[in-house]
Amino acid sequence: MKLRRQIAAAAATAAVLMLVPSAVAAAAGDPKAPAVPSDSLRALGAQQNLRVGTAVDDAHLNTDQPYTAIVADQFSVVTAENAMKWESVEPTRGSYDWAAADRLVAFAGQHGQEVRGHTLLWHNQLPGWLTTGVADGTIGKAELREILHKHVTDEVTHFRGKIWQWDVANEVFANSWDANPLPNGLNGDDFWIKNLGEGVIADAFRWAHQADPKALLFYNDYNAAGQDGSNAKFQAVHDYFAKLRAQGVPVDGIGEQGHLDTQYGFDAQRFQNDLQSYADLGLKVAVTEADVRTFVNNATEQVPTSQLGEFAQPYEFSEMLKACQLVTQCISFTAWGVYDGDSWIPGTFAGTGYGLLYDVNMKPKPAYVALQQDLAIGADAAHRGKGHGPK
Ligand code: XIL
Repeated sequence: MKLRRQIAAAAATAAVLMLVPSAVAAAAGDPKAPAVPSDSLRALGAQQNLRVGTAVDDAHLNTDQPYTAIVADQFSVVTAENAMKWESVEPTRGSYDWAAADRLVAFAGQHGQEVRGHTLLWHNQLPGWLTTGVADGTIGKAELREILHKHVTDEVTHFRGKIWQWDVANEVFANSWDANPLPNGLNGDDFWIKNLGEGVIADAFRWAHQADPKALLFYNDYNAAGQDGSNAKFQAVHDYFAKLRAQGVPVDGIGEQGHLDTQYGFDAQRFQNDLQSYADLGLKVAVTEADVRTFVNNATEQVPTSQLGEFAQPYEFSEMLKACQLVTQCISFTAWGVYDGDSWIPGTFAGTGYGLLYDVNMKPKPAYVALQQDLAIGADAAHRGKGHGPK
């Protein structure tokens, strides 16, 4: 464990041990934070300067009591699963609907949580008026650029001062299966690159920085930490953001989504090395959308069909978290949803499920226990270092 975390952990562990013998503790390091269970993911993470998060579905927040309690008790950073995406906030051109996103930001404020803003420049979940206008030629290139500029500026301004990390750009690099990669690894078929050229990526970061100079600005993608086998996507993202930083573009971090599937295996060492390589550029890193899917009997029960898959699921979750714990610049670890009954996985990857930390009945799974243990070990390591080890 790195020194910064050891010091924080030692102080926080001592405080918890001495002052809070009961089952609840204020999140360490933040006297204003509400009381949360001392063995919660967020309380254990706080002892090592690591925020543990979840994507939140507005359809459940505040209306579903057990769901809402898990979000409040277990997590110290939240991401809107859909509510901040362009199609959600501007369904009709020129008229914004911030209601769902504002609900989440207010909830986070009441529960001592930070917010990850997700996402500003992405090819998916764009409003119909925008994609239709571009397709039929009624929105030309110059106007499209102005529309994007206004979108980034208006959204970041709306939440100014309330967002910890913004995913400014999402998924603009090519995968091995994409037909038109550019020489630098960007996806030549990406909606924004195709229409406006790759310079729009750096511009989006500049526009976001102008609107909220204090927010941390992230690039977010999947398979960007070695999961493509060749490490090619990692290398492309790494080299591209090294270049942008050298040019003074305000990029603060790289988010690795962390969508894994047990059928593909997982190289945990490479994952950690890649996160460290981003950090070595002077960037922060975050695991932003972690889930680990496996084949299941059906989408309702989500019982793994293979015992090996069932064991691999918590293992891969744990390896991702430990990589983040071991990279000092990794500031948050977020799961992409609360429980298996409300996950994008069964509807997106046919035949798979069981991807999250809580099961279809909202009971904590082995993956939850694995993360809790990893975080507890991280917190405890510094305590042992303070004279409790063998003489
Ligand atoms: C997904 C949501 O989970 C779904 O509810 C929605 O229908 C589609 O988008 N990468 C991302 C996320 O950056 O925004 C995606 O979220 C999952 C993949």
